[in-house]
Amino acid sequence: MRTNEFHTVRGYQLIEQEKKLLTSAMEDYLEMIFRNIGNEGYMRINTLAEMLNVRPSSATKMVQKLSQKGFVEYKKYGIITLTEKGKTLGEFLLQRHNIIEKFLKGIGIRDNLLIETELIEHNLSVDTLRSIDELNSFFEEHPEIMRKFEHYRSTRN
Ligand code: CO
Repeated sequence: MRTNEFHTVRGYQLIEQEKKLLTSAMEDYLEMIFRNIGNEGYMRINTLAEMLNVRPSSATKMVQKLSQKGFVEYKKYGIITLTEKGKTLGEFLLQRHNIIEKFLKGIGIRDNLLIETELIEHNLSVDTLRSIDELNSFFEEHPEIMRKFEHYRSTRN
């Protein structure tokens, strides 16, 4: 069984291109929007601001930038929807987050897991991420090797 997160994402080339258009902060916004857009297919600017712990005016500014770059549509009444390329990149950003978090958990990180994930995620190439994803899958498919690793660590400390 393949457990790679990546199998649903297509067009890595496109992702590498589009990613260059975004700052780390914009990536955080897009990831959060994709994560929370839900079945209705939209999200409110106030909800987004709350989740990111920023003022609604700051959230509006950033969402307008994402809109200019073609990742979201920002409509009246504070309603945000994702464009097709916004969905593709948003899905990638969420998977990227999950892959890194899973990796850190796997090597035994417990403290500040979320903060560390947020610090690492913006600076990896798609190739590196894919390799980490494969390593995650490898450990999942071979838990006996993971146990050996855990044993190895416990005997060193
Ligand atoms: Co993240």
